[in-house]
Amino acid sequence: MKIAIGCDHGGIVLKPAVKNVLEANKIEIIDMGCFDSQSVDYPDLALKVAEAVSRGEADKGIILCGTGIGISIAANKVKGIRAAVCHDLFTAQMCAQHNDANVLSMGGRVIDEDLAAKMVQIWLDTPFEGGRHVGRVAKISQIENKYFK
Ligand code: RB5
Repeated sequence: MKIAIGCDHGGIVLKPAVKNVLEANKIEIIDMGCFDSQSVDYPDLALKVAEAVSRGEADKGIILCGTGIGISIAANKVKGIRAAVCHDLFTAQMCAQHNDANVLSMGGRVIDEDLAAKMVQIWLDTPFEGGRHVGRVAKISQIENKYFK
């Protein structure tokens, strides 16, 4: 499994903990930046990760900004991306279980490294439940197909 990671200066604080979890799970990491605390624009990092996932170069993505909000909004503009902003273990689990979220988004100014690490682990460990959720996720794709020309 390959996971692409992208962050801005607001999310970089979580990156070491996130990478530790991925390494512990023997997951190949594609680190798309940023690499220091200099101010950058989160849509640029969102696009890199989202395109890597959308093209199949990465199986999933993890994106980090100050709140997790801006970078997820941007990532969700890319076809095939279901990026979920999560703040706790429950949402990290449910976005995998019910929404088949292929990108996990977290905020470096919202949660700490310990929680982020646990959220990544539960997101990785939780399979998509399928069943009644298949049709709902398919309806998300239908919306994309209606508006992505
Ligand atoms: C950057 O200051 C901040 O706006 C960004 O990290 C993010 O929180 C946006 O949603």
